[in-house]
Amino acid sequence: MNTLRHAGRTALVTGAGSGIGQATVLRLAKEGATVVGCDVDTAGLEATEQLLAAESCKAHLITADITAQADVDRVVAALPGGWVDLLANVAGVMDHFLPVTELADDVWDRVIAVNLTGPMRLCRAVIPAMRTTGSGAIVNVSSIGGLTGSVAGTAYVSSKHGLIGLTRSLAFLYGPDGIRTNAICPGAVRTNIGRTASPEVEWAYRRMEQSFARTTRTAESDEIAALISWLGSAEANNVNGAVITADGGWMS
Ligand SMILES: NC(=O)c1ccc[n+]([C@@H]2O[C@H](COP(=O)([O-])OP(=O)(O)OC[C@H]3O[C@@H](n4cnc5c(N)ncnc54)[C@H](O)[C@@H]3O)[C@@H](O)[C@H]2O)c1
Repeated sequence: MNTLRHAGRTALVTGAGSGIGQATVLRLAKEGATVVGCDVDTAGLEATEQLLAAESCKAHLITADITAQADVDRVVAALPGGWVDLLANVAGVMDHFLPVTELADDVWDRVIAVNLTGPMRLCRAVIPAMRTTGSGAIVNVSSIGGLTGSVAGTAYVSSKHGLIGLTRSLAFLYGPDGIRTNAICPGAVRTNIGRTASPEVEWAYRRMEQSFARTTRTAESDEIAALISWLGSAEANNVNGAVITADGGWMS
């Protein structure tokens, strides 16, 4: 493994204040990248800053809501020279396991905005610069909820399936321009996503418990960050349009 495989490269990471996004910022910075990270949670970003300092690393961390176009513009404007080699769309929220019959519009709108529209806006913002130099990598963090209907509510499952569709569309359309777009589908990962994952409708959650009973392993955030780093590096140059499950065998 090349431990400085991102030296001289720039990465943009959303969800940088917690969990997988935070671990991705740390890993990419340690592997030599200039990292711009954003999150809606300022306290989370401060924690990321402290973790970076403990590793003698730094990153440019920005409080921003990826559902707001003005915030996306501000984050992209912070990229040195307006250039990014790797975009990691990590920020995401759960939906309290709500089935469609109990789903309020505001929950649907928020989950789709964070998990699908935000990533689309970031892709739309960085691809023009990637096309000019004929290279770039985008990694979208979907979920096994992007592959099956049995592990989350309707809004989350729809958003994560949509993110795989976004991934495949970009891989097809911009692959010939040297831009690789791939998706990762983690299973259970030890993070703070539980903040939006308290079950609110008992019958629906009870049905999903049959799936949860099959979970074999809970991953650490850095194990997912390692996959993001590899997919975003030149070592994965022949990987485009892939949907990679990283669930410890849960879906097998
Ligand atoms: N933890 C798991 O078990 C698991 C499994 C599969 C997929 N995922 C996916 O991994 C990704 C990262 O989640 P995590 O588990 O690290 O959760 P987390 O809650 O620890 O981190 C998610 C981060 O996204 C940020 N965020 C939320 N809305 C945002 C917005 N509008 N703008 C900017 N930042 C925003 C949050 O503030 C938080 O810091 C998500 O897309 C999630 O769906 C997680």
